[in-house]
Amino acid sequence: MNDSQRPPVRVNVVDGVALVLIDNPPVNAAGHAVRAGLLDAVQRADSDPAVKAIVIAGEGRTFVAGGDIREFGKPPLEPHLPDVCNAIEASRKPVVAALHGTALGGGLEIALACHARVLDAGARVGLPEVKLGLIPGAGGTQRLPRLTGMLNALDMIAGGRQVKAAEALDLGLADLVVDSGLRERAIALALSLAGKPPRRTGELAVREYSAGEFEAARAAIAKKARGQISPLKAVEVTALAARLPLREGLVRERAMFVELMNGAQSRGLRHTFFAERELSRVPGLESVAPRGFDSIGVIGAGTMGAGIAVALADAALNVIIVETSAAALDAGRARVQSTYERQLKSGRISEPECAARLARMTFAEGLEALSSCDIVVEAVFEDMAVKQDLFRRLAPIAKPGAVLATNTSYLDVNAIAAAGGRARDVIGLHFFAPANIMRLLEIVRGADSAPDAVATGLALAKRLGKIPVVCGVCDGFVGNRILAAFRQQAEFALEDGALPHEVDAAMEAFGFPMGPFAVSDLSGLDIGWARRKRLAASRDPGARYASRVADKLCEMGRFGQKTGAGWYLYENGKRVNDPLVEKLIRDVSAELGIQRKANGADAIQRNIRAAMVNEGARILAEGIAPRALDIDMALIHGFGYPAWRGGPMFEAGEIGLPTILKDVEALHEASGNGWEPAPLLVKLARSGGSFADAKSSMN
Ligand code: COA
Repeated sequence: MNDSQRPPVRVNVVDGVALVLIDNPPVNAAGHAVRAGLLDAVQRADSDPAVKAIVIAGEGRTFVAGGDIREFGKPPLEPHLPDVCNAIEASRKPVVAALHGTALGGGLEIALACHARVLDAGARVGLPEVKLGLIPGAGGTQRLPRLTGMLNALDMIAGGRQVKAAEALDLGLADLVVDSGLRERAIALALSLAGKPPRRTGELAVREYSAGEFEAARAAIAKKARGQISPLKAVEVTALAARLPLREGLVRERAMFVELMNGAQSRGLRHTFFAERELSRVPGLESVAPRGFDSIGVIGAGTMGAGIAVALADAALNVIIVETSAAALDAGRARVQSTYERQLKSGRISEPECAARLARMTFAEGLEALSSCDIVVEAVFEDMAVKQDLFRRLAPIAKPGAVLATNTSYLDVNAIAAAGGRARDVIGLHFFAPANIMRLLEIVRGADSAPDAVATGLALAKRLGKIPVVCGVCDGFVGNRILAAFRQQAEFALEDGALPHEVDAAMEAFGFPMGPFAVSDLSGLDIGWARRKRLAASRDPGARYASRVADKLCEMGRFGQKTGAGWYLYENGKRVNDPLVEKLIRDVSAELGIQRKANGADAIQRNIRAAMVNEGARILAEGIAPRALDIDMALIHGFGYPAWRGGPMFEAGEIGLPTILKDVEALHEASGNGWEPAPLLVKLARSGGSFADAKSSMN
């Protein structure tokens, strides 16, 4: 029998215990058929005189990993999950949940409605609904605090934090944790409870808690939410568990769940959830097998190279780090060690884990050490001549079939590839700093890259737990190219009437973790300045130039935080506004004859979003990104675009492309050459099309 023919819920009665098995691959999501089958199974078992107790367990790799997200946003079909959970809790016979793998969302809610929970030692449980812009909708907010206390429940529900079995036991969420024999132990527990009155979670009282601690937790959650609604709604509804009887709490929970489900933020986060999983299914590469890899070479042990090496060793790969001198190697080793020391100090890794990771790294002088590597990633100085020379020397040394990757941020991957004469083996692997933390990895497909070399990049990203965005060759690839459009509009906003802190506040209110000028001070103004000087000769003289103020700051040696001053002043590590910068900006406006006028946060946000979408449309039309969703994920995971907006391209569809087009036309009028509406945007806005359906010429 294949998957689709097997019933999603089966019951075996053994020694008077009904073992209810949920079987809905891949993750036993509680879709309509599962809900109906589970309700039927529990009701039958409850009224079957041959049954003394009930155990609910999952088949395959996991218990239930949640409601079926594919059904979200569609008209719900009965029975609803809250009704199933209520029926389980109401059962007169004891119902025990046997959890393995991940019991998440609706899966944990089923377990909370059971009268006891046995967890496999490797199980992980949680209520991650806030990450989908929701709150639990089947009793999670009302039952969890009755087991764990209010503050622990807030942490798990409003923070979306998942906990492992041992912690679940400490929290009172699990009754028993077992290393083996999960089902047998659950059956034994169920039998031991048979005949006794069931312990119903919904009938328990929430333990007393301090109002001060509750307020502190709420404030911390509000601070982290950055414009996302669901975490604070989760706090509000979870708090009801202490005041209302279960039934009333459930009604309020459901109403909020439905309201959030129909809201734009949940649509954005659902798009993000599925888009993240689509990224590796690149059109045209679906059936291409990657080349095998185990040993990876990294050339250059500067900040980027060391970060890449750590990311690789963290994923249990063997790494050979190459530098040109013993002194440079020592500096690289020190960088790696200090990263691990920080992780040790913060408790992210243990001593043995740290030792194992360091043991996977070899430090060597000279490229010859890389002759047996399956993949080589270069992270040397960002200069075409330097990289070309390196590829010329590397090509004859690397073994046949090795993938040769450049970590360039802006340079032409085709020109780098051509230098070594092994262009089929060459791809770009554009990591973002710090490379062991940032999840975005742009995989650049050169004109001659072999499909299996690109597929190897995707396989490596998966191994590293990165978000892979495949892109074509252009200046800045996907992420940095769109960021450039963002930054230019931010700088135009200064000339037109705003101050850096106003632009930063507007973009933080939009949901970015930091505004563009604060980010620029953090990463250093000198890199952009050097690039602008390099590109000055090829700039369109008819285009509006954005960086007059930035250039003046750099000429004054104000490179940002590292020099104590940039767009802001830094006094004892604190960022403060600088009247001198305000004067510089006003002088530039006057020089340009611009009548400064106060643009509100809304106008700043609209301009910047329009600029990003317009550049995204060009990227799509040029075949630089395979799909609009790749652009969305690059911006969310590399640049802090709020995930609840779904990314710029998705959000543009939500707002309506004709509205976005109007915003872009206004930008064009204000900003001149280079800001024309992208033909693809114009076409889709006029024809009622969408970016999601637009075909990229990459495929
Ligand atoms: N509903 C529908 N489909 C789901 C799902 C859900 N709740 N959870 C996972 N899936 C699907 C994924 O879309 C993916 O489908 P695909 O292969 O067609 O892309 C497949 O199941 C495997 O998921 P994936 O995330 O790739 O596997 P994983 O092993 O890395 O992680 C989970 C498994 C369960 C930890 C992870 O999928 C997850 O966190 N799911 C969401 C859980 C959640 O938020 N539940 C609350 C909903 S109320």
